[in-house]
Amino acid sequence: MNRTIESQQAKPPERGKYLVIEGRDGVGKTTQVKMLAGWLAVQGIESRTDIREPGGTPIGEAIRTTLKDPELEREPETNLYLFNAARIELQKQVIAPELDAGKWVICDRNRLSSHVYQGHGEGLDLQYVRDECRRATTHATPDLELIIHLEEGERRRRISSDTTRSKDYFENMDEGVLVRIMNGYLQEAEDLNIPLIDGGGSPDEVHQRIVSEVEKMM
Ligand code: TYD
Repeated sequence: MNRTIESQQAKPPERGKYLVIEGRDGVGKTTQVKMLAGWLAVQGIESRTDIREPGGTPIGEAIRTTLKDPELEREPETNLYLFNAARIELQKQVIAPELDAGKWVICDRNRLSSHVYQGHGEGLDLQYVRDECRRATTHATPDLELIIHLEEGERRRRISSDTTRSKDYFENMDEGVLVRIMNGYLQEAEDLNIPLIDGGGSPDEVHQRIVSEVEKMM
């Protein structure tokens, strides 16, 4: 290729960053994803926040409907593989191309949800779950994961005040599993060195805590 043509070629955009906000149902993930996208926009960074796990692709949305159906009995392994199947499609079809195009992606949930719900909660061997999730996330690995932790009484109050909510398969799990899920997030934060964000206080206060973690990686 001649040098003139080579120099005219556009430089590929800098790869976007992939941020994941994790935590139990009711800790405020959705609000925080939106607030973070607003903050990034002020910094001149365009991000996508409309991507959900499980889901985000036609086949992923079909898997989501199946997974959330409380009438469908299944083994924990079935959950693990269905979540990972949806994840592979989402990461390959949507997230990796967006990152390549220079856009940032902020998601509510990723591999840590499987570690916590299918490993700690449903009792699958944790190392096995972590290994399977690592294989399923090779197309797009998060640049930053944060776990929002909220005191249990407050979390339940927030959930019960939301009258639009109906319980899915995972929220119907027995009390023992729900306690293991709560402790599982704390354990993952410690084992994998993932920042734990205090979800207490106003949405703005939580947002500031999240921003200070995001700033460290910019
Ligand atoms: P979520 O999208 O947070 O539900 P909603 O939008 O209705 O609040 O997630 C659905 C449920 O799936 C949630 O209870 C957690 C569970 N889950 C797992 O068990 N493993 C996983 O890997 C993921 C991503 C979610």
